[in-house]
Amino acid sequence: MRLLVTGGAGFIGANFVHGSVRDHEVTVLDALTYAGSREALAPVAGDIRLVEGDVTDAELVTKLVAEADAVVHFAAETHVDNALADPEPFLRSNVVGTFTILEAVRRHGVRLHHVSTDEVYGDLELDTRRRFTEETPYNPSSPYSSTKAAADMLVRAWVRSYGVRATISNCSNNYGPYQHVEKFIPRTITNVLTGRRPKLYGSGANVRDWIHVDDHNAAVWRILADGQAGRTYLIGAECERDNLTVIRTILTLMGRDPDDFDHVTDRAGHDLRYAIDPTPLYDELGWAPKHTDFDEGLRATIDWYRDNESWWGPLKDVVEAAYEERGQ
Ligand code: NAD
Ligand code: DAU
Repeated sequence: MRLLVTGGAGFIGANFVHGSVRDHEVTVLDALTYAGSREALAPVAGDIRLVEGDVTDAELVTKLVAEADAVVHFAAETHVDNALADPEPFLRSNVVGTFTILEAVRRHGVRLHHVSTDEVYGDLELDTRRRFTEETPYNPSSPYSSTKAAADMLVRAWVRSYGVRATISNCSNNYGPYQHVEKFIPRTITNVLTGRRPKLYGSGANVRDWIHVDDHNAAVWRILADGQAGRTYLIGAECERDNLTVIRTILTLMGRDPDDFDHVTDRAGHDLRYAIDPTPLYDELGWAPKHTDFDEGLRATIDWYRDNESWWGPLKDVVEAAYEERGQ
């Protein structure tokens, strides 16, 4: 298949590209923002075409879509704290960008998979076993999640109004190699590696449902292959952990005192808990996560960051300076 992967130089997209080049012809379209890097694609540089460009550039997008059999749309601004500080790029990349992709796949009749987030559903109470399903109403809390929700709505409207062949997936929190050091798990690991104390927002009671990036991408492939056009699939690995437990586990795995972290200012509007019910993905598409031992996944991720300081090192000081300014 000739695949166009938007955002393929970011965390999840780069891992997706690494796993796709053996069997497919891959073009990556990425604006190489602060979150994207050529280095993340270095292991497959000879096997792909990397086009540096913006998903809001209609002319470029239309040309690349016309040359593809399918588009996997990862490109987005993704960090909640950045969206709180400056929402404008999120509106542009996430909403206008998705609109631009939709118009191009409509014109050329190309299959689209749109990658989205569980944050579109808002949050769940801490003291409940309820989980998000396909039927959960959208209720986004943050500038980031509201732009992702808007993008999802555009995809649904283009499916119904124009018969665009698109699927959507809403996944929970990913972790693994090449995740930007602004995000919780890599930030915590690289804080320890650089002699900084990890930071916990608020009390740390907030719960996230963790999934290894390779399991997310395997699910995206199952959906691309056998998903039903117009459907939404929720992706999650049934691995809920509160942030306090995650930070203490990482510290312990890195040989530190589990309480060697700072409590910092809480995130505004901080979502309490996310949890995905992935049953339809098991039953209908035969997908199941392979990385089911979270501590083992964290250990491997710690090893990866230890071995790849050349990739994340240049980003670290800038990120921490921005956090410091925000009191986080
Ligand atoms: P990331 O921030 O690591 O990477 C995003 C990539 O998109 C970067 O390479 C960036 O350069 C590129 N990009 C941003 N704006 C662009 C634009 N206007 N034009 C072209 N390229 C642009 O993000 P990620 O964590 O890999 O997330 C990828 C996708 O998966 C996003 O759509 C995100 O909403 C979704 N998602 C992420 C998670 C998670 O836990 N990280 C979970 C569920 C869904
Ligand atoms: O749920 C899917 C979403 O997961 C994706 O759509 C987003 O793109 C992705 O960034 C992620 O969003 P979160 O806000 O959940 O991830 P983040 O890594 O920023 O934070 C995870 C939790 O850890 C959250 O409750 C905030 C907290 N946190 C974060 C940082 C950076 C801390 O306690 N300390 C920190 O230093």
